[in-house]
Amino acid sequence: MDSQDMSLRGSWGSKAAFIFAASGSAIGLGNIWRFPMMVSQNGGAVFVLVYVIAVILIGFPVMLAELTIGRHAQKNPVGAFEHIKPRTPWKLTGFLGIITGVFILSFYSVVAGWTVGYLYKTASGAFNNKDITAQLTDKIFTEFSANPFLVIVLALIIIGLTTYIISKGVKKGIERWTKVLMPILFILIIVLAVRALTLPGAEKGIAFYLRPDFSKLSGTVVLFALGQAFFSLSLGMGTMITYGSYISKSDNLVSSAGWVSFSDTLIALLAGLIIFPTLAFAHQPFNVGSEGLVFKVFPLIFSQIPGGYFFGTFFFALLSVAAITSTISLLEVPVSYFVDEKNWSRKKAALIIGLFSLGLAIPSALSTGGMEFFTKIKFLGALNFIFGNIALAVGSLFICLFVGYAWKVKKAAQEVYSGNPLFKIRPLWSFSIKYLAPVAIIFILIFIKKIVSG
Ligand code: PHE
Repeated sequence: MDSQDMSLRGSWGSKAAFIFAASGSAIGLGNIWRFPMMVSQNGGAVFVLVYVIAVILIGFPVMLAELTIGRHAQKNPVGAFEHIKPRTPWKLTGFLGIITGVFILSFYSVVAGWTVGYLYKTASGAFNNKDITAQLTDKIFTEFSANPFLVIVLALIIIGLTTYIISKGVKKGIERWTKVLMPILFILIIVLAVRALTLPGAEKGIAFYLRPDFSKLSGTVVLFALGQAFFSLSLGMGTMITYGSYISKSDNLVSSAGWVSFSDTLIALLAGLIIFPTLAFAHQPFNVGSEGLVFKVFPLIFSQIPGGYFFGTFFFALLSVAAITSTISLLEVPVSYFVDEKNWSRKKAALIIGLFSLGLAIPSALSTGGMEFFTKIKFLGALNFIFGNIALAVGSLFICLFVGYAWKVKKAAQEVYSGNPLFKIRPLWSFSIKYLAPVAIIFILIFIKKIVSG
């Protein structure tokens, strides 16, 4: 595809290319930054258990639903709902997704910026010290994240790069990055997990992470686990509708959704295997993780591994790339809308929405000590909760209701049959989309009030 036909709808070079790109969207800070923080704040192993169940029973079916809508309609989320059910309010689900995407992009870019900052720190030897302590990494993060100018510039770098890649179009932009780098990240994470698991004292961390304490199970835990599943799998805002619109009719949507869900979950689970044993080793509490958690803990594991300087630098470099393959999928949703429906050029759409997200990113960037007001109201944390949990859950609910009751499973299944003539799991999928997922989501939404007032 050359730059001339960038404004036209492209398609993935192959099924593998789609899986890499969709995994690139799914795998990112959600797995490595957000998941361990959620585990820490929500009771440890019991959260992990509910999370895995949520991915299998709800996340995977919703992903299949989104891919099916996308491939059938061959359009951006708003256009897709309009195509399947013209002149109905269903397209509002698409709009909700676009707004959600811009808000997630704003705070996500701030954390991605921290990653780039830590890449620089690690490469310049800030953690190149065997005796580094948890107190020191804590202090380093606190000072770093409270530097207003620095964090804003770092977020700008992320949004700038994302905008550049998106304005270059789908294939060239996305495929090239993910193919090589995701497998390397995976191997690196395994190496770090093996080291963490063999640290003295690791057992206590493993127990917190993997031995469920059922007395900690609550509606709140389920709310956060389900929200985390949507966030980590990039569901509920039309990302997978958009990515699905580029999949070929001969591809098997079920196995594609399965691969993406599996690889994403594996990476998140491995990230936890690094964080909690390392916390135990450093004699730190498990349950007080905040936004800075992984930035405080990863430098500790690097100091305990031969060649830690090299591993550390490499890790933050790859995590930055993993974050960018996610930010491009966040930006791709609104951009594909303006390109498809409003005939904007990709460049114009990417630039305008990129600038807008940057404006929104500033209060988040200033909310970790940079400015008192935004720090006090925990601006970044609030957006993370409202858009990362709630808006994605509401979006997913509408997607399920749409496929289950408006478009109807029977018609949607016709789309799945192309590329998967057997579609053996159809009854299970239908059950989840029509009953299980909507009921679970409505149930958890009831708990929001409790959290907000508590
Ligand atoms: N799934 C991405 C991650 O885990 C974040 C994301 C959410 C991307 C929603 C797109 C849509 O980092």
